[in-house]
Amino acid sequence: SEPSVLVTRTLVEEAMRALDGHCEVDLYEGPPEAIPREYLLRRAAGKQGLLTILTEKVDAELLDAAGPELKIVANHAVGFDNIDVPECTKRGVLVTNTPDVLTEATADLAWTLILACVRRLGEGERLMRARTPWIWGPTMMMGHDLHGKTLGVVGCGRIGRAVVRRAHGFGMRVIYNDAIRLDADAESELGVEWREWGDLLGESDVVSVHAPLTPQTRHLINADALRAMKRSAVLVNTARGPMVDEQALADALRSGEIFAAGLDVYEREPQVTEALLDLDNVTLLPHLGSATIETRTAMGLLAVENLLAGLNGERPRTLLNPAALG
Ligand code: GLV
Ligand code: GLV
Repeated sequence: SEPSVLVTRTLVEEAMRALDGHCEVDLYEGPPEAIPREYLLRRAAGKQGLLTILTEKVDAELLDAAGPELKIVANHAVGFDNIDVPECTKRGVLVTNTPDVLTEATADLAWTLILACVRRLGEGERLMRARTPWIWGPTMMMGHDLHGKTLGVVGCGRIGRAVVRRAHGFGMRVIYNDAIRLDADAESELGVEWREWGDLLGESDVVSVHAPLTPQTRHLINADALRAMKRSAVLVNTARGPMVDEQALADALRSGEIFAAGLDVYEREPQVTEALLDLDNVTLLPHLGSATIETRTAMGLLAVENLLAGLNGERPRTLLNPAALG
């Protein structure tokens, strides 16, 4: 009989169709919030595959609930902080993510927020929508130039590098900080210079976060980091919310310690720290980094391809834990 899989959220139609005829699909079609934990535990039981999204915590409890038949967890995201990968590896369960296919879309969204912040887009839009009377004036709603300024990229992986390439089009100088330093050739080809953490914060006019969430990067942007930034600086986070201390950010934005911030992800997603919602110098988006038709189709198809490969005993294309192959 066909292997059975749990799909925790409806994917784009093309990806749902790619599952047809290959496995028996148990699809969670409840309200558009995350699948409730007790349903997830119950419905994972006896499955050979799980196709998860970032709201599902894949831990020892879930793996126990799924049972020994489970072969693969295919995550529909590049980030995999929701998955206990070592625990999966220990049990011989493959784990995959969806890298590469969302790199350009996510870099575009980071730039959407960078531009929105420096040019006060949200504030201007809100003014128009409120039907506030206005007239063009030489000092009205001034933001900051980008050309000739410095972009500081935090995490220079695939998405960070795509953000760097765009920065050169805007005439910016680029510095970066990453636990893993690129080699000199890669740095000069990309047009970036490495900086110590404190130097990156102090020199950057725009700080954009593109690192994975790990115990080391949690609250990387805290009160001290915000104090180290220029008062004219902008912070953008399109990676994972818990890397930014939201209360500290709200305080820094209110007191003018930094100029503006743009967030696509939240510390307690989908909740937003209340103090941020009242500030004009923060632009807030509902985790749209990879949300284009083209990219979500590619992500869905890659997640399904990985899932089916794992079920068939083949090596999935974007496998995170080769050690689980045994
Ligand atoms: C989305 O946030 C992802 O990790 O793909
Ligand atoms: C991700 O983690 C990336 O930069 O692709």
